[in-house]
Amino acid sequence: MQIDDLSEEELKNSLNMRKLPKHVAIIMDGNGRWADRRNLPRIEGHKAGVESVREVVELCGELKIQVLTLYAFSTENWKRPPFEVNALMRLLIDQLSEQTPDLNSKNVKINVIGDISRLPKRVINEIRSSINVTKENTGLILNLALSYGGRQEIIKATRAIADDVKKGILNPDDIDEKVFAKYLYTSDLPDPDIIIRTSGELRISNFLLWQCAYSEIYITEVLWPDFRKKDFLLALISYQNRKRRFGGI
Ligand code: FPP
Repeated sequence: MQIDDLSEEELKNSLNMRKLPKHVAIIMDGNGRWADRRNLPRIEGHKAGVESVREVVELCGELKIQVLTLYAFSTENWKRPPFEVNALMRLLIDQLSEQTPDLNSKNVKINVIGDISRLPKRVINEIRSSINVTKENTGLILNLALSYGGRQEIIKATRAIADDVKKGILNPDDIDEKVFAKYLYTSDLPDPDIIIRTSGELRISNFLLWQCAYSEIYITEVLWPDFRKKDFLLALISYQNRKRRFGGI
């Protein structure tokens, strides 16, 4: 019998609840291919991916995972045809406004990382409203990476550091990893313990470049719209079977 043959309940029971990751980050890939295989427009793949988002958020809540970061739109995704970008923006607006009341009732706190100034005004307003409504919540932090790029984040942090040095607030000799991390979008969050990528691509694609230094990487062939709680549990079990050495022995 293989681990994949176990039911969702059996997989859940085999988890070590004391060895769960604090922060799970996901590169949700394969929506376009999922749609192509069904002769559907690419946006149907993105729409179908919403159900996978719902399932992973729910499971994170059940397992009391602290942070879930979802790579929903990268700085590179701006290069996609305007039709697809607009449809993705529409989907984000709809999902944020539809899901926020339910997420709020589940004590989920919504957070966003990325250069949101590039997003359409309506998306920015919806993000602000979701963040505001959920700001006092103490459960899962649902961290959406939107118009996010790791290199852009590092450049932004470097500029802010240079600015503080110029103003005399910061001494260059005091800049270490801890100080640098404080200038990133993720200043208040732990680094991801595991990064999951769906659809089998073996790349990090400009995602959390600084923060992924010691993250465990888990790649599955499953396309994002097909990703279910069972697939998430398989990733968590794989994580629990790794020996994390953080460069030591
Ligand atoms: C990558 O698949 C996916 C995206 C660029 C968008 C992900 C967005 C969603 C799942 C929408 C819902 C999100 C939230 C947070 C409500 P791809 O288009 O690169 O797929 P491909 O590699 O097969 O072409």
